[in-house]
Amino acid sequence: MRYALISDIHANLPALRAVLDDIRGRAVDATYHLGDLVGYAPWPNETVAMLRDAQIPGIAGNYDSTVGTNYHHCGCRYEDPKQEEQSHQSFAWTKANTADDVKQYLATLPFRIDLKPLGGHTAGPTVVLVHGTPTLNTLYWTEERPDSFCTKMAHLAGAKAGDAIAFGHTHKPWHRDVDGVQFINTGSVGRPKDGDWRAGYVVLDVGATTSVEFVRVEYDVEAAAQAILATDLPSDFADYLRTGGSPAVPATDSR
Ligand SMILES: [Fe+2]
Repeated sequence: MRYALISDIHANLPALRAVLDDIRGRAVDATYHLGDLVGYAPWPNETVAMLRDAQIPGIAGNYDSTVGTNYHHCGCRYEDPKQEEQSHQSFAWTKANTADDVKQYLATLPFRIDLKPLGGHTAGPTVVLVHGTPTLNTLYWTEERPDSFCTKMAHLAGAKAGDAIAFGHTHKPWHRDVDGVQFINTGSVGRPKDGDWRAGYVVLDVGATTSVEFVRVEYDVEAAAQAILATDLPSDFADYLRTGGSPAVPATDSR
């Protein structure tokens, strides 16, 4: 069974369109999203509509559950006061520009989805999909986390050797095998932070063995950047997309 796993689209419609086109060109049995459909870019309603039209199921990221419930904070982490201010701007903009029926939809997304590639009638592998971790969609599961953290999360998720846990939230893709459990961070479709501006997703092939392919897809990043600049969203978000999350170019730099 081959799954396409797409996470952290963050209202970047050109990136989502390019990824869905790329997936259509592959022998994939099913596509799931791992949440964070909205935030940071100007197409929250259109992004949700495209996923619903394509009948792609998925789970709630922290941005989805906080926008969907009109929470006071997006559950995002920031490293400095400027990031904090921009994070609040983005959250306020998204709440103000996401339609009520879309918020309702975001609020109904499940926290976790379990897949049984060989069918639930056999004791085959389970693929667990969550946004952040099996306990909270706000917790960052970075590559720097020790094996002991992975083992703890596998235990909390009820995962055993042969199973896989896939997640996103950090926007940086990685994959590790710990005691026979596959841990897969799928990266981000619409807001990568690993220095590569291209949209990222994963093709997970589960059979006699499990294989993980990290895919990067070029898209019209300038269209997304210009659309951000045409709104009240922080203009730094445009450069963030162009650079794959590199720090914004200093104001004194003439580039
Ligand atoms: Fe995210």
